[in-house]
Amino acid sequence: MLKGTVALVTGGASGLGRGTVERFVKQGAKVIVADLPSSKGKTVADELGETNAVFAPMDVTSESDVQAALDLTKQKFGKLDVLVNAAGIAIAFKTYNSNKKLPHKLEDFSKIIHVNTIGTFNAIRLSAGLMIENTPNQDGQRGVIVNTASVAAFDGQMGQAAYSASKGAVVGMTLPIARDLSKDGIRVVTIAPGLFDTPLLRELPDKVRTFLAKSIPFPQRLGNPDEYAMLVQQIVENPLLNGETIRLDGALRMQA
Ligand SMILES: NC(=O)c1ccc[n+]([C@@H]2O[C@H](COP(=O)([O-])OP(=O)(O)OC[C@H]3O[C@@H](n4cnc5c(N)ncnc54)[C@H](O)[C@@H]3O)[C@@H](O)[C@H]2O)c1
Repeated sequence: MLKGTVALVTGGASGLGRGTVERFVKQGAKVIVADLPSSKGKTVADELGETNAVFAPMDVTSESDVQAALDLTKQKFGKLDVLVNAAGIAIAFKTYNSNKKLPHKLEDFSKIIHVNTIGTFNAIRLSAGLMIENTPNQDGQRGVIVNTASVAAFDGQMGQAAYSASKGAVVGMTLPIARDLSKDGIRVVTIAPGLFDTPLLRELPDKVRTFLAKSIPFPQRLGNPDEYAMLVQQIVENPLLNGETIRLDGALRMQA
């Protein structure tokens, strides 16, 4: 059912975003791998083939970069059906570190909110303008937006104040944006992933990864990016999913 679908995936050069562009191309979609100029976006797009994928170097926090990526989308594939917001960054720092007598840096807190929350909203608000040009299907649908929060939006651990706040905001804006865009036939759904095997987690020692995996009730392993991509595909294909955040976590509830 993804045949002929055009999808822009932020963070498409790595991890969950990369898993999504790979699955989407296998299923017959055209993709825009939207990621930082320093990312592996060009290599990823080249591997998928130029008729299927194009790299749009961009920073999700920049209005002109996102607009340029959308212009490239229209020029290369003629339309935009799906936006997947998978770009994101993480940080771990306590609100106040009493050993070092150091408060959490305000600029670190701002940076996480800027990329994860404001970057997500920036991509949504500008993409809606291009989706609205689509001819509606029999339901009146013109497009689908999938965001990426985290289980840290609900049970953030020590050191995750900034990250949890940034993801909680993505959860919080899901319903109002779905309501805002309902008249235009655009659905908005957020995925809250648990622990996934991506470059982000691959940097951890094996011992820590095994420990993390054992904290998941079932299955006791890290998720793989294609399992995230499977849910993105289902959200795109199922017309009733809208205005909701779906946990994808093997029943993980993170402890302090
Ligand atoms: N891996 C996990 O276990 C996990 C769990 C919960 C949530 N998430 C979320 O999923 C998303 C993807 O994470 P991942 O694990 O695939 O990480 P990743 O580091 O493998 O991929 C993230 C991608 O985002 C890109 N990016 C970062 N800042 C950007 C910016 N300003 N503009 C454009 N692109 C930017 C990076 O270049 C990278 O390619 C993130 O939002 C992350 O918070 C991941």
